[in-house]
Amino acid sequence: MDQEVQKAVSAQAEETLVVVKPDAVRRGLVGEVIGRFESKGFSIKRVSMITMTRPQAEEFYAVHKDKPFFGELVAFITSGPVVGAVLSGRDAVATVRRLVGATKSWEAAPGTIRGDLGLGLTDNVIHASDSAESFAKERSAFFKAQNG
Ligand code: CMP
Repeated sequence: MDQEVQKAVSAQAEETLVVVKPDAVRRGLVGEVIGRFESKGFSIKRVSMITMTRPQAEEFYAVHKDKPFFGELVAFITSGPVVGAVLSGRDAVATVRRLVGATKSWEAAPGTIRGDLGLGLTDNVIHASDSAESFAKERSAFFKAQNG
């Protein structure tokens, strides 16, 4: 790519984090889920499969610590391996959230990841950062053990 074109493209790029949840990993959907972001045009900057520790999960989901479902959420996200990926591309935070679909998978629109692949709430296939601030905090919590 021409250097000027490359500069213009990267100026529009934003990063976000997605985490393929234990339900989707158990069901063998990692490739399907991550592939949708690649098909859309996002590039994968970093990817890692880990099993979150309890303190790591509590930090990752700190924004929900006072919610009644916090205990269930932490138990679920630590119940098996997850795959986290930093994605880069135009308007990544909002665009990735649109591809992911509504939190309640049974209500998520067909064509979205949750709309096509799940029926759960806690087990809703994937997590995606909801803002640039959340992305920074979640990336730090997710990649903590790996000098992220
Ligand atoms: P996620 O995008 O990972 O962000 C927080 C998660 O909490 C959400 O997806 C759901 O999986 C989970 N959750 C569990 N119960 C609820 C609830 N009642 N409302 C919203 N989110 C919930």
